[in-house]
Amino acid sequence: MPAVGGIPTGPGKEYPGNLTPYVLVTCVVAAMGGLIFGYDIGISGGVTSMDPFLRKFFPKVYRSKHDDTSTNQYCQYNSETLTMFTSSLYLAALLSSLVASTVTRKLGRKPSMLLGGLLFFAGALLNGFAQAVWMLIVGRILLGFGIGFANQSVPLYLSETAPYKYRGALNIGFQLSITVGILIANVLNYFFAKIDGGWGWRLSLGGAIVPAIILTAGSLFLPDTPNSLIERGNMEDAREKLKRIRGLENVDEEFDDLVMASELSKKVEHPWRNLLQRKYRPHVAVATLIPFFQQFTGINVIMFYAPVLFNTIGFGDDASLMSSVITGLVNVVATLVSIYGVDKWGRRFLFLEGGAQMLICQIIVAACIGAKFGIDGQPGELPKWYAIVVVLFICIYVAAFAWSWGPLGWLVPSEVFPLEIRSAAQSINVSVNMVFTFVVAQAFLNMLCHMKFGLFLFFAFFVVVMTIYIYYFLPETKNIPIEEMNQVWRSHWFWAKFMTEEFSNGNVEMHKGGQALKNV
Ligand code: BGC
Repeated sequence: MPAVGGIPTGPGKEYPGNLTPYVLVTCVVAAMGGLIFGYDIGISGGVTSMDPFLRKFFPKVYRSKHDDTSTNQYCQYNSETLTMFTSSLYLAALLSSLVASTVTRKLGRKPSMLLGGLLFFAGALLNGFAQAVWMLIVGRILLGFGIGFANQSVPLYLSETAPYKYRGALNIGFQLSITVGILIANVLNYFFAKIDGGWGWRLSLGGAIVPAIILTAGSLFLPDTPNSLIERGNMEDAREKLKRIRGLENVDEEFDDLVMASELSKKVEHPWRNLLQRKYRPHVAVATLIPFFQQFTGINVIMFYAPVLFNTIGFGDDASLMSSVITGLVNVVATLVSIYGVDKWGRRFLFLEGGAQMLICQIIVAACIGAKFGIDGQPGELPKWYAIVVVLFICIYVAAFAWSWGPLGWLVPSEVFPLEIRSAAQSINVSVNMVFTFVVAQAFLNMLCHMKFGLFLFFAFFVVVMTIYIYYFLPETKNIPIEEMNQVWRSHWFWAKFMTEEFSNGNVEMHKGGQALKNV
């Protein structure tokens, strides 16, 4: 029986190409796509813990936070409108990513990025000038539309433009920019919350226009990808672009493969129906389970609600915002560890180590909160050491996520799908991620109120399940060219039996050597 996570060996295919300045510019644009997403993740939690913001839009929450001292600490923030504020964005992002996939395919990656930037800009303006809750929610829906378009097109743009051997690092570069966006938002919240007159939240929300402008401007200046140009029939233009991107005169091999890939994908008339075939079971498992599990690590409880959470466990407003700056910093630094290690130690090692580390931290945090708050949410006097221990373990937990499920939750699905189902499977991945981001964001305050410290054990349970899934069912994909990924599944102890059929589609066959060839 093949090893649980064995790495098959075999000759790979590599195209020549350098990391040209041209390619670096695309990385910056990709970074901007991640920034708008991250900025938003980071800003909402901080804003919802600012008193003037709560007083203006959510007076009920404000009152229960301040006036009623007997209120159960676990439940002080439990307001459906407040959670709707945070989570409305993810439903909007889910819907727009479906529309965006058509725009991206038919009109190119560039118009999608442009639309993403513009919609995000409009949402930021509406939020910055909001006078009523509906303006906040509509603003967030627009932000969500923007994120849907950007997250659909930017990673595509990136992987189509990146030279083959830098694709992994560039992919995690996208996650890095998400974490930088979160950190910037946390720092800004910290300072804006101190502004006299209590209107700092307007700057926090309105500040989103800055990454939006950068993304919009970037998308205007960048050319479309060769892949997209070929798909839309602009062959000569595509060849010229490819030469410029790679910094080479002879790009024939890669160009021919792009043309072939485009023809192949046109042959698949029903990529969605295709996914139901037995041979795609392992891929469908990845496309659904990886994003589901990524969200059920519980990371967004920290990302969205860190200040609220720190407030709940007894920190003042200022200390709460400061602590979320600290977790934001840990998130960025630990992502760098992943960029460094992902191609050396492999995906499985990071997943397994990260899972174990998250599990230990969740149990300790649950125990700390349970010991002090009990089940009635009455903490009494909280010693300083206690707060320090909680923040410390939350940081260790965030670090674990940031070098495992954070980046790998995006990287692994993007590298394991065969070409003919890649785009369909990738949209499943994005949609599942958005749905469960929504579910966790929407349910968290309610869950905290009802499950109390047990909430951390709830997520810990999922961490155990996902770690088992990785151990037994996810093969190592380090250093395997995308075109050869089928080999990985073929030699897997469990999935091999699903891979018995030849990978064929009409008159096109996927050969073991990794090339898509036409049977004439
Ligand atoms: C996840 C987000 C999360 C972020 C935290 C991303 O990979 O998709 O939901 O907030 O990481 O850094």
